[in-house]
Amino acid sequence: MHTGLESPRGVWWKPVHRSEKVWFGIAFAWCMVLFAMMPLWHWKGGQNPAGIRRKVEPAAFQARVNEFIEAYKIGEENGFPIVEPPPGSDIYLLARMWSWTPILKLRKDVEYTLHISSQDVGHGFGLYPINVNFQVVPGYDYGLRVTPNAAGDFRIICNEFCGIGHHLMLGKVIVVDDASATSTSTMKGES
Ligand code: CUA
Repeated sequence: MHTGLESPRGVWWKPVHRSEKVWFGIAFAWCMVLFAMMPLWHWKGGQNPAGIRRKVEPAAFQARVNEFIEAYKIGEENGFPIVEPPPGSDIYLLARMWSWTPILKLRKDVEYTLHISSQDVGHGFGLYPINVNFQVVPGYDYGLRVTPNAAGDFRIICNEFCGIGHHLMLGKVIVVDDASATSTSTMKGES
């Protein structure tokens, strides 16, 4: 019987076969390529958040979000405020178990500074159907420079497991094309 205490029988101590050396060389070279990709991706990947980042007390951030909602609220949907901030302004989004507040109504092709933070645990901001992902942690205010480049209704999902209601953590962003919004309301005769 063979036990783990005895050295294995076989030919494993013989010099390494050439093909194995070649394979080892390829694997090592590939490791170095991937290693180089890390700093390269940082500079050339275009995946880094553009904007500011600073520490914030969760309560202070929540107070700022409430101020923001109060100032620019235009309606409500399922109990969530719909907020239409002035073009180009600082906008706020609060993540908590298990919701995204408020619903943002934005203009296409206008740059906003999106402040995003969590009130409790780590959440994952995921914008669907567009593949935008951002990790949201409590205690930090991320001011992301964002420019919506398509009009429509977008869902925010949470892609960081955050508890029993994780799969229910949905939010919404509405992006309107300024020109089309005006023409639609003219057609329907709305004021
Ligand atoms: Cu929030 Cu998962």
